[in-house]
Amino acid sequence: LQKFASCIEVNPDLTRAIVSFQADKRKPFFSWLKYKEAFSADLVRYLLREFAGELRPHTRREILDPFSGIGTTLVTAAAEGWDATGIELLPVGAAATTARLAATRVDLQEFARCYQHLKELDFTRARTSFAFPHIRITRNAFPSQTETEISVFRAFMETIHDSDVRALVCLAALAVLEDCSFTRKDGQYLRWDNRSGRKGKSEFRKGLVLDFKSALCARVGQIGRDLQLIEPSLGTSRVELIEGSCLLTLPKLETNRFHLTVTSPPYCNRYDYTRTYALELAFLGYTDSDVSRLRQTLLSATVENRSKGSSLLDYYGTIGRGGFYAEANASVEQCDALQEVLSLLNSARSQGKLNNGNIPAMIRNYFFEMSFVIKELARVTAAGGRIIMINDNVQYHGEGIPVDLILSDFAQRAGLVVERIWVLQRGKGNSSQQMGIHGRRENRKGVYVWHKPGRGL
Ligand SMILES: C[S@@+](CC[C@H](N)C(=O)[O-])C[C@H]1O[C@@H](n2cnc3c(N)ncnc32)[C@H](O)[C@@H]1O
Repeated sequence: LQKFASCIEVNPDLTRAIVSFQADKRKPFFSWLKYKEAFSADLVRYLLREFAGELRPHTRREILDPFSGIGTTLVTAAAEGWDATGIELLPVGAAATTARLAATRVDLQEFARCYQHLKELDFTRARTSFAFPHIRITRNAFPSQTETEISVFRAFMETIHDSDVRALVCLAALAVLEDCSFTRKDGQYLRWDNRSGRKGKSEFRKGLVLDFKSALCARVGQIGRDLQLIEPSLGTSRVELIEGSCLLTLPKLETNRFHLTVTSPPYCNRYDYTRTYALELAFLGYTDSDVSRLRQTLLSATVENRSKGSSLLDYYGTIGRGGFYAEANASVEQCDALQEVLSLLNSARSQGKLNNGNIPAMIRNYFFEMSFVIKELARVTAAGGRIIMINDNVQYHGEGIPVDLILSDFAQRAGLVVERIWVLQRGKGNSSQQMGIHGRRENRKGVYVWHKPGRGL
């Protein structure tokens, strides 16, 4: 804290709404799919205003988001003339980004024709070979009429040949699955309504479960109206979405290329994207083993994640950058704050005081992987460029983990200057369970600004 105290500053412009998906909840285009993990377009615009001024006029501006989610950074910056590159591993985020890009060029008449066909479709006759491809954790998620309707829709999808229309209609289906199911995305997991018939004594009632056909047609209709209302144009900007893990794709990007990175990695909070988005993943054709593999490939933030240490060691060896691996690893070993947290949590673990014994390993894995991400970001950023990262501090067993300070320490070791750690006026409280035991303590929510020294821009 002493090391970075002079950089920490409350920024009243950064409200909870703009650093989360809240600010975009009702906006055309942004509201099509509820992705609670997103930040808002207003935040991206604010950061572009703050930091783009220093670029020389007429420079081709390049922005990067290695955890691009539904593409908020990409689409917002591209609309302001930036070339944008995103990396996203979760197919739900990638499908949303593809649809958002499709919206900028789709043939409106083709879209309207497809919408008309959809409304005229007979949704009562099941198409068994197109049944919802359930995985273990999605079984019984839908009423049987919905299963029938989904099968009709999946068969219909095969007949849409225009890839832009298809991407938009697929997004509409992804967007309504939860509302038509007996589940609700709730914190870390899916909650199950007691009408699902799943074993266990759930008392939970989610209220109205929507009928798939009506919900889908309503969403496709909304998208159609929004497409007429707004003219989402990317002008001459180029947007590239790389589908895969940034741990394996960042090393392939060119050195000194990007002027700005605006990104928000998964938080170190045990949130499991593969469980929360199980319905959508199954809809997109992910099998049980695909989902387990995906969980292990995502940045480690759950107690089930195994270490990626040996695979990263092999990978960096194969590309002839073993030294880079050693330096990233050293950032973790030499970070006193992180080592202190780990030793306290390991001692709580050996006294049986943690509610899950894998928490210290999860925290180590999280920071280990982030040390690679940060070192790679420092490499691909042009001299004079900036990296802006949004993240939350967390706490386990009453032990506050200063994610902002630890990651800023990694940034400094990677040759970046820690300019600011902007914090929101009020941080987020700890979980109710933790609050009962350890009292109310706020976790700082921060926007970190790191600068690559030099005058390259
Ligand atoms: C906090 S969200 C970012 C949301 C984004 N800012 C937006 O507005 O949509 C973090 C994202 O990182 C993605 N992710 C997790 N592990 C990843 C990895 N190894 N490589 C690339 N993306 C990953 C998740 O799927 C998630 O979409």
